[in-house]
Amino acid sequence: MIPGMRPVIVAGNWKMHTTPSDAGELAAIIARRTNEPGVVRVLCPPFVCLAAVRDALAAEAAGRDVAVGAQNVHHEVTGAFTGEVSAPMLRGLATWTIAGHSERRRDAAETDELVNQKISRALEAELRVILCVGEQLDDREAGRAETVVRDQVLGSLRGHQPGPWLTIAYEPVWAIGTGRTARGVDAAEMAGVIRRALGELGSAAGGEDVPVLYGGSVTGGSIDEFMAEPAIDGALVGGASLKPDEMAAIVARAGLTARARAGASSA
Ligand code: PGA
Repeated sequence: MIPGMRPVIVAGNWKMHTTPSDAGELAAIIARRTNEPGVVRVLCPPFVCLAAVRDALAAEAAGRDVAVGAQNVHHEVTGAFTGEVSAPMLRGLATWTIAGHSERRRDAAETDELVNQKISRALEAELRVILCVGEQLDDREAGRAETVVRDQVLGSLRGHQPGPWLTIAYEPVWAIGTGRTARGVDAAEMAGVIRRALGELGSAAGGEDVPVLYGGSVTGGSIDEFMAEPAIDGALVGGASLKPDEMAAIVARAGLTARARAGASSA
């Protein structure tokens, strides 16, 4: 695949924000404000808001091609797991899921092995997966960032054949929710590390067909630096994904890249 032909994706991770009574309206507003040709849009609200978001998007002309994603799935299909949600339960509610977000690695002690099992369950339920990887600040300062990210990719994906179901979000942990972003060139370099690891896992195209997003304090003001990098295919947006103005600016910038890629491939 021509690298430039990878899809451009903007995913919003709403984390533990919104309620079933306000999530639908927010989703509809964002859908209207981000109706850019060529950009794949995904909204990931809390579990209890999935139905409201699905319904609001279905009722909105600009929302029909906005995908709905979960923020997590359990690593088992069913069983005595109080308070958990399994991948098959999402049928009809979501078509994507995030896996291995650093907040879950931190707060729910998720390991690469567990994330690997979650991905198995997600694939069985035909969910597309946004796998999150990223180093801590001390890893970066000690020069270990690339090794950490490579190990996360290999560990989380071992046994899975990379394919169209997979998107990877490079999210340096020190950039999440801090207002501090990585530099575009560092994110692009890490996209190279990620794609080489995908090649080790048997990706036929050496990972060149797998979209790599940047995540960590992305706003309308910082998106340009990332979308200017050919190795970066979009963003996983947290805090700013709750703000329609920010999402409009982020998706508008992503749309420029999407149209440039479409133009280059048809030229
Ligand atoms: P942030 O979160 O944009 O608020 O830094 C990104 C994420 O956690 O996916």
